[in-house]
Amino acid sequence: MNPLFPSILSTNFFNLEAKLREFETSRIDFIHLDVMDGHFVDTISFGPGLARALKEKFRFRLDAHLMVSNPDKAIPHFIKAGVDWLSFHSETCGDTPGLLKMIRDGNCRAGLALNPDTPLEQVRPFLSVVDYILVMSVFPGYGGQKFIASSLERVALLKKEIINQKSHCLLQVDGGINVDNAGPLKEAGADLFVVGTSLFNADNIEETVKRFLNQMPWSQL
Ligand code: DX5
Ligand code: ZN
Repeated sequence: MNPLFPSILSTNFFNLEAKLREFETSRIDFIHLDVMDGHFVDTISFGPGLARALKEKFRFRLDAHLMVSNPDKAIPHFIKAGVDWLSFHSETCGDTPGLLKMIRDGNCRAGLALNPDTPLEQVRPFLSVVDYILVMSVFPGYGGQKFIASSLERVALLKKEIINQKSHCLLQVDGGINVDNAGPLKEAGADLFVVGTSLFNADNIEETVKRFLNQMPWSQL
């Protein structure tokens, strides 16, 4: 599995298809969908309709990152739209184990996301029952933000905890990822990299994907 998960949040939707065709030739496996409800975060992005359209047109697997206040309401619609992975935020109050079960019962991989200021303790109890943890390295809501440097330490600490608990969950990072910080993040223990601006704004996507992958031995996850 290619560890790069391009986020389409910041793209110009009028040339999305051309960009995605370039990702196909660059052997990208997953596309990351930043779903925003205008309540959990200020901005509104897109819904399950876009996921369905992408599934019908491309071979990519879809990783939906739900930045929504009511993930219990949104999850069934994204499962029905055909997404493959679904993460929701640990900051939304609600029944985390129940939501993880809802996602898995829908034959999707289940992920738990946490904001840069959320204590790691909040996800510690779930490390053995999630498929991945999404560590936000920016505050959610917008693409193109600056990487928060303390995220490196958080990734390293979380990875240690995952190893201590003998968990198989993967560690995904999202926000301000570029070819300079991808290597150190990989070293700190990150497995999967959500990349928006650095990829979509690249002059040559294929070249940039290669530069990213040169930063990390592409372990066959
Ligand atoms: C924030 C989004 C972004 C996006 C990545 O809510 O989750 O982090 O995926 O965007 P870039 O790579 O532009 O920071
Ligand atoms: Zn995201």
